[in-house]
Amino acid sequence: MTNQIHKETKAKAIPVFAYRCPECHAPLTQDGEQLACASGHRFGQQDGIWLLLSMAGRQQQARFLQAYTKVREAEGWARPEPDSDLDANAAYYLALPDYDLSGLYNATWKMRGRNYRAMVAHLDSRYPAPLCILDLGAGNGWMSRRLAEAGHAVCAVDINMHPADGLPVARVYFNRQATRFARAEGEMANLPLQDGQFDAVIANASLHYTTALDAALREAARVLRPGGVLITLDSPFFSDLAAGEQMVAARREAYRRYHQPTDAAGSFLSYQRFAEASTAAGLGRIDWRGQWRKGAVSVGAWWGGLMQRLRRRGEPPTFPIVFAYKDGDG
Ligand SMILES: C[S@@+](CC[C@H](N)C(=O)[O-])C[C@H]1O[C@@H](n2cnc3c(N)ncnc32)[C@H](O)[C@@H]1O
Repeated sequence: MTNQIHKETKAKAIPVFAYRCPECHAPLTQDGEQLACASGHRFGQQDGIWLLLSMAGRQQQARFLQAYTKVREAEGWARPEPDSDLDANAAYYLALPDYDLSGLYNATWKMRGRNYRAMVAHLDSRYPAPLCILDLGAGNGWMSRRLAEAGHAVCAVDINMHPADGLPVARVYFNRQATRFARAEGEMANLPLQDGQFDAVIANASLHYTTALDAALREAARVLRPGGVLITLDSPFFSDLAAGEQMVAARREAYRRYHQPTDAAGSFLSYQRFAEASTAAGLGRIDWRGQWRKGAVSVGAWWGGLMQRLRRRGEPPTFPIVFAYKDGDG
């Protein structure tokens, strides 16, 4: 139903998606500037971003977000500096993922650009465009912008409302380009979206942050149409759980050493855990694709030696592009 609507949407319109209440899971309908469900829960927006975290979800995420923001700012990922003018630094965001005009993470972004294009090429070869796509853990929205430019109807979801690293950054793209995408503050383990409306859910460098992998995969499967695909890329995968735990422990140690909060250290995915949880979620047909990127976790220049140490100690992470298809043809 929604697919047809989006395929006829003009380039400049923000695509309309069907949201659901993060508190009681009933459908939300628009009532003026708000979304409301039949049980009386109401949700507003900020700068065009629907604020769709449940009260419990907001509390749960607050500690992680505070730590994550501190680390991202310290590492220079949250560009531009928070107290400078976002628009004046637009060129940085507009150049992603191919060029990092900050100069801090050139090699990482080069690889991310390559992985992104490889992912899109495979997606294009399997599904006729335009598609309805959920950008899961969208960050500053560079991928949503690229996909929207390619003609897809995109919804960006993240818990991150940082003005220079989260969903608000999109105004940089919107101020300069005709393309639009929808944005919702929301949690990947409790998506504020109704069932079956996406052809693809793409988690780019984000799935390994969830502490509720089973729920996040179930949610991705729920919002996909039958035959749709969950794509995971730029997340560290290990075949050995102990090696993954060692990486997270090493990250925590490094954060501690640099007086950064350890809650932001994220986690990792294991091949076996991912396969089991995907299958249980109804995403059982998994295609592990290439673009293996060894030893280059996006962590920050000041502890770049960590990966080398890990490599010496044992298994380094790999970064496959993973396509997990929802059962059915749809
Ligand atoms: C490393 S960033 C990647 C951002 C973006 N996808 C990119 O490719 O640059 C990870 C993102 O995942 C988001 N994230 C972490 N946990 C999340 C959760 N439980 N639900 C939604 N987003 C989450 C973070 O807020 C952050 O924006």
